[in-house]
Amino acid sequence: MEPGQVVVIGSGLIGRSWAMVFAGGGFRVKLYDVVQQQITSALEYISKEMKKLEQSGMLKGTLSAEKQFSLISGSMDLKMAVEGAIFIQECTPEKLELKKKIFGQLDLIVNNDVILSSSTSTLLPTKLFTGLKHVKQCIVAHPVNPPYYVPLVELVPHPETEPSTVDKTHALMKKIGQSPVRLTKEIDGFVLNRLQYAVISEAWRLVGEGVVSPADLDLVMSDGLGMRYAFMGPLETMHLNAEGMTNYCERYREGIIRVLKTFGPVPEFSGEIEQKISQAMSEKTPVDAEHLNARRAWRDKCLMGLAKLKKQIKSN
Ligand code: NAI
Repeated sequence: MEPGQVVVIGSGLIGRSWAMVFAGGGFRVKLYDVVQQQITSALEYISKEMKKLEQSGMLKGTLSAEKQFSLISGSMDLKMAVEGAIFIQECTPEKLELKKKIFGQLDLIVNNDVILSSSTSTLLPTKLFTGLKHVKQCIVAHPVNPPYYVPLVELVPHPETEPSTVDKTHALMKKIGQSPVRLTKEIDGFVLNRLQYAVISEAWRLVGEGVVSPADLDLVMSDGLGMRYAFMGPLETMHLNAEGMTNYCERYREGIIRVLKTFGPVPEFSGEIEQKISQAMSEKTPVDAEHLNARRAWRDKCLMGLAKLKKQIKSN
């Protein structure tokens, strides 16, 4: 897919990030929203962020910050915004009826080539796209926050999505520097959240049973498992932790199954355990905008450093 025009629908947290990523790949971006103030603040934010990223050597792509910013323009006219577009990324609030309405509107005005993609974290393609005239061109492309530093995008097709829609979206994501993965069919939670929930679930049980404190539980991930997971997945970890996967299974399968059988029921995520974990988390980061935003800024700074490191290591 040659650089052309993409449309981002919704200029909130995720929409503005997508706009930056597409502009980094050299695409012209129309940032559409129903609230003018959102577009104005998104453009201000993007301009500032791009300059900061350029100064720190972390701007994506080959174009200058100024050139990238000039590729992005705001719009409150959906019909005009989608004219000539090759790809549309929907980033509106996570409400099924709202998203269905937007895809219904798009269905009436798009041609047979443009790809209609949703950023949804939780809504299944069959809920979003069934019945649309252009369902073959529809796909979920679920990013991870913040998409600028965390490149993964889960591609989830509707049963009627054309394979070429998935292929083109995959190629486009690679072109703009993201890291797409294909799901062959929809599944609740997609893949990332299913893995995340498996971890959260056992974390909750371990703290709930008093085996480990909330702070130490988090350290097990950030200074233990997470060190490896920033570079390789659990399957390759198994392969390298023995003389290959077959040998790993021979050595450890019995132990893994024994431990897995002790995992217990799905936690309720409420009551006393919730209070205990909430208290521990709030001691570290009090639940007010100032502290939460400061910690989020720290997180994004760490992610930026990690993204830089990964880039250096890959290019060695
Ligand atoms: P947000 O609330 O920050 O932004 C939503 C934007 O949509 C706002 O600018 C709002 O004015 C605009 N909007 C509302 N109705 C509209 C309409 N009819 N047409 C056009 N624009 C409209 O939401 P956020 O966090 O950016 O989430 C967007 C989507 O991305 C959701 O589906 C969410 O599940 C998904 N997502 C969010 C992640 C996150 O961490 N926030 C991570 C991955 C995906």
